Amino acid sequence: MRAQAFDAIILGAGAAGMMCAAQAGQRGRRVLVIDHAPHAGAKILISGGGRCNFTNIHTAADRFLSANPHFAKSALGRYTPADFLALVESHGIAWHEKTLGQLFCDGSARQIVAMLLEEVARGGGVIRCGESISDVGHADGRFTVTTTQGSASAPALVIATGGPSIPKMGATGFAYDLARRFGLKVVEPRPALVPLTLGGEDVLFRSLSGVASEVVARAGKAAFREAALFTHKGLSGPAILQISSYWRHGMAVGVDFLPDRSDGWLIAAKRASPGASLRSLLRGALPDRLADVLADRLAVEGRLADRTDAALRAAEARLADWAFHPNGTEGFAKAEVTAGGISTAELSSRTMEARRAPGLYAIGEAVDVTGWLGGYNFQWAWASGWAAAQAL
Ligand code: FDA
Repeated sequence: MRAQAFDAIILGAGAAGMMCAAQAGQRGRRVLVIDHAPHAGAKILISGGGRCNFTNIHTAADRFLSANPHFAKSALGRYTPADFLALVESHGIAWHEKTLGQLFCDGSARQIVAMLLEEVARGGGVIRCGESISDVGHADGRFTVTTTQGSASAPALVIATGGPSIPKMGATGFAYDLARRFGLKVVEPRPALVPLTLGGEDVLFRSLSGVASEVVARAGKAAFREAALFTHKGLSGPAILQISSYWRHGMAVGVDFLPDRSDGWLIAAKRASPGASLRSLLRGALPDRLADVLADRLAVEGRLADRTDAALRAAEARLADWAFHPNGTEGFAKAEVTAGGISTAELSSRTMEARRAPGLYAIGEAVDVTGWLGGYNFQWAWASGWAAAQAL
């Protein structure tokens, strides 16, 4: 049977794949999108608690992790949050800014999927879901993709199959296997935006499961001020998810439980209220259960007046940089994204085309570009999909 001919075949009908298909189709390219999941855009549907945090107005390359921190600049600069917002508005989708520049649909993430499907259809693109890819061949300048439903060929092939986070939704490491087959290097993938697990002495904090507090979390040079949440396995909440992307095995995570207190606050409190206790001060600033666990562990009991300044300084220092020693993460099963991926050294930052495999492109989460929590990962999916589409 002859393979159906297209100008480009895009593997993966997620955020990046659909954006790329829409743009390339509207530029006059005949595009086929193939996905093994029953429906397009599954991760978009569950994103942002069902409301899709579709971009972040503070998007800048320094909010992305990559072996090459400059790689994302070109695509992010050419397709911006304002561009995506204009598209959202042109479809009459109501939106709001929640916090920290995060834009969400007022209604539902379904609106974003419907918008992308409409944009793909407008460009004449074909999306085929529920098809398993059994082979990808390359000969005479054409890629041939064989699926359960037949084969298709094109001079351009776009890898947009994302990363392996949340495998139960059909996420796979297919992108990496395919890239390696074409000789491209892959930066070791690891779970990111993922809860951290605690063991050893830190296990005592698991008794705080369900307690949340605003903190500054630090790992290496990275620091995030947002909520941290204690879980029955360890630590989660936005501040921890953010820091998890920077955390590596063996590193400590420092938590400032009182980020608004200035240096010397505890000694100042001793002067102002000598009869107060550390426990009562902590209870005034933090959830009671958290205050009690911290006070127990600091073992600074009784009146502040009865404590030396040195002891109070030491307690203050620990509260400002409480060292947790995570023993791992909750893994790809719980990771919102995958860090690492197809090496940016292999790709043109302008077109996403592989230097050593002309006609092969990689976009979205499959690439070693990982955004912070808060709409950055979708913005990378849109921008990288758009950039590749300009070259197809
Ligand atoms: P994406 O994963 O979207 O798409 C890949 C597609 O490839 C899928 O349709 C998959 O079925 C298909 N595929 C995989 N393997 C295949 C194979 N072997 N054969 C054929 N098809 C295959 N980001 C953000 O910016 N704001 C947010 O609110 C959220 N919220 C959020 C919540 C949750 C629970 C998760 C898990 C993730 C988020 N994210 C997010 C991250 C965001 O969903 C993610 O970064 C993008 O979906 C990545 O887009 P891609 O198109 O690259 O991959």
